[in-house]
Amino acid sequence: MTTLRISAVPSAIILLLLAVPALVCAHAQSSPTPNPQLASKDIDGRVEALLKQMTLEEKIGQTVQYSAGFATGPSASKLTYDELVAKGQVGSMLNVVGADRTNHYQHIAMEKSRLHIPIIFGLDVIHGHRTTFPVPLAVAASWDPEAAETVARLGAAEARADGVTWVFSPMVDIARDPRWGRIIESNGEDPYLSSALARAWVKGYQQGDLSKSDSVAACVKHFAAYGAAIAGRDYNAADMSEITLRQIYLKPYHAAVDAGVATVMTSFNTINGIPATADPFTLTQILRKEWRFDGFVVSDWGAVGELKNHSIGDGPTVARKALEAGTDMDMEGDLYGTVLAGQIRSGKIPESVVDEAVRRILRVKFALGLFDHPYTNVGPAYTATAEKRAIARKVADETMVLLKNDPVEGVGALLPLSEKTKTVALIGPMADDAVDLIGAWTVTGNPKDVITLKTALSERLGDKLLYAPGCGLLTGQDENVLNSVSFTGTATPTVSQPLPDDEQMISEAVATARKADVSILALGEPTNWMEGEASSRVHLGFTGNQEKLLEAVVANGKPVILVVLAGRPLELTWAAEHVPAILEAWSPGIEAGPAVTDILFGDVNPSGKLPSSFPRAVGQEPLYYAQMPTGRPATGDLSHLPANSDEKFVSRYLDEENSALFPFGWGLSYTRFSYTNPTVDHAEVPIRTVVDDHQPVVSVSVDVKNTGTVQGAEVVQLYIRNTAASVEQPVRELKGFKRITLAPGEAKHITFPLGFDELNFYNVDLKKTVEPTIYKIWVGGSSLATAETSLNIVE
Ligand code: BGC
Repeated sequence: MTTLRISAVPSAIILLLLAVPALVCAHAQSSPTPNPQLASKDIDGRVEALLKQMTLEEKIGQTVQYSAGFATGPSASKLTYDELVAKGQVGSMLNVVGADRTNHYQHIAMEKSRLHIPIIFGLDVIHGHRTTFPVPLAVAASWDPEAAETVARLGAAEARADGVTWVFSPMVDIARDPRWGRIIESNGEDPYLSSALARAWVKGYQQGDLSKSDSVAACVKHFAAYGAAIAGRDYNAADMSEITLRQIYLKPYHAAVDAGVATVMTSFNTINGIPATADPFTLTQILRKEWRFDGFVVSDWGAVGELKNHSIGDGPTVARKALEAGTDMDMEGDLYGTVLAGQIRSGKIPESVVDEAVRRILRVKFALGLFDHPYTNVGPAYTATAEKRAIARKVADETMVLLKNDPVEGVGALLPLSEKTKTVALIGPMADDAVDLIGAWTVTGNPKDVITLKTALSERLGDKLLYAPGCGLLTGQDENVLNSVSFTGTATPTVSQPLPDDEQMISEAVATARKADVSILALGEPTNWMEGEASSRVHLGFTGNQEKLLEAVVANGKPVILVVLAGRPLELTWAAEHVPAILEAWSPGIEAGPAVTDILFGDVNPSGKLPSSFPRAVGQEPLYYAQMPTGRPATGDLSHLPANSDEKFVSRYLDEENSALFPFGWGLSYTRFSYTNPTVDHAEVPIRTVVDDHQPVVSVSVDVKNTGTVQGAEVVQLYIRNTAASVEQPVRELKGFKRITLAPGEAKHITFPLGFDELNFYNVDLKKTVEPTIYKIWVGGSSLATAETSLNIVE
């Protein structure tokens, strides 16, 4: 009831918060000092000196960004960029890649424009720049912030060598609905995991020092709550209570801001009725006042202009609303550049508003050292060196999630594959598909650098490998749908012409499988067309006739291993019932084949864990582990065990279990881990000791032992449940994780700190708080963890 009441009056709250600063102090807690990478007296001095010399047109020019390369959205206009840059009317460009191309515009800006203000070049560097790593959702499955940092660091260095000084990453939108295609770019469903990764991505891109020659400015996106698009339909509205917004959706952006992110991108959606690109509550109140963000905010592509579609005014009005709300730069929108001057001259917008936006933009340019080093040296052409490949492979190895590995009668577990296996059939349209294995949303990644599964496995197995593509990724019907969508991006559609004869191919695949001892089925989703932006789906099965292929090969009776290659949780219900071994390999990037081979043969023990729940049926979506309790729980729900009661009047589906098919945090290994002695060092602590100072109050520990016969890495996870909060809290929440490696028989004593940061929640007054209560605590290898202890917070 409480949360409903709050969500019903968002605008009232906004007005109240804006009007009464004293009230907002309640949650303006724990903001760090301003970003040391941007705030310096030297930078401020240079910014002010420059600002004084600027004409109104030059100031507005800094707030304008155009795409001078390919388009990643509907194009604003065909302008003569050389001329605009020479007049100082473009502050930033996107989609201009390569030292020669960026230098071209930079020379004009530095030599022909009156004040010689350099351009900041932005690009979508999403999972590496040239060296393409697994997609972000896969990186999240590693639960390894160091892996994210590595991907970002290498991406930054390569982007900078290409003249790109600003990357539109990380995307940290909480994604709880895999119908939304952009889940592939996210860290999944959980605010704690996503926050840890957000910090790591930012650290990797910016390296704590924007002026380094291999650092770039990062851009956390899409602010805010873009991932909560209703029904998983891209660009759709988001609607939620302010408690949920703050406690779940805003957390990872805040983590990125605390980590010093230099820029923020707005989102396309509305939040509780207000378009995010013109929302003073999120962009000014929260971002600037509460979080003390001092970088700049860019709109998403055309999002300022799209405010007209949100019916909040005509062009000049929406430009004013966006700027005044806190959107400093207009990405490919063509509005700030064309209407702001009139608005300012007519007194509708005070010039101080544009001055502030310009200050923020210039601050980042100075911090990047662009005024002193505007150009990029033209270097040698990119090659995927052995060293870069090794890093990409290691990251990909860590992202693979072994979903299932049940013993087969008379054979035992199919994985890891024994070298003694005589003949292996590799089947499926993803097995040799470089374009889709590299993953969606790569601008400069080259499918030619991808080592496919077929290449890697045939190197390993030689003649012992048989191969059949099995079917296409799409049917004629899919093709019609896709062809009806005008696609303005760079990716080439993977629809092969003519479409393959799937029936014929399936029977050939079955014949191939019959000749082998075991079949590996490489199935998935065409990443460039059906994943990422504007790629929402209501059916989450394998595309085309792949499911038919799977069923036909399984029916043939020989053992089958399924390797799933996709950037979103697919519905694997049939497979989970009929296929003994399933590996989730995501979209693994250039080292796809070697990494999958590492895992299949046990050279690397799988250690990835799901960052996102896998549904049994699409109808369960949005499905996530941190559900709120209900007054009529189905049996097992509160303990999070997958069983429904046979009662009628409980919160359940009649035709499917409530639980995930594969839950958050899930992932098997070729060894086993035991969890014993879960303990809290102080089982009872007085409330007065739990204060908001980032200090731990208690320490939770557990003994983790490798009880199997091979070395393995495990992600130890800690979950809590606040059992008596004044605002009801989820049945479980992740509040700690550690990736450890254990030799067979080895045990480690693992500890997790718990303090205000982990225990707080937002109360009805929207204040972060901890109250007297009992926290249940679980430690284990997934969100189903059973090793339990508790913490009592007393008056
Ligand atoms: C996407 C952003 C992206 C931008 C620039 C937009 O369509 O939503 O994520 O950074 O284009 O390419």
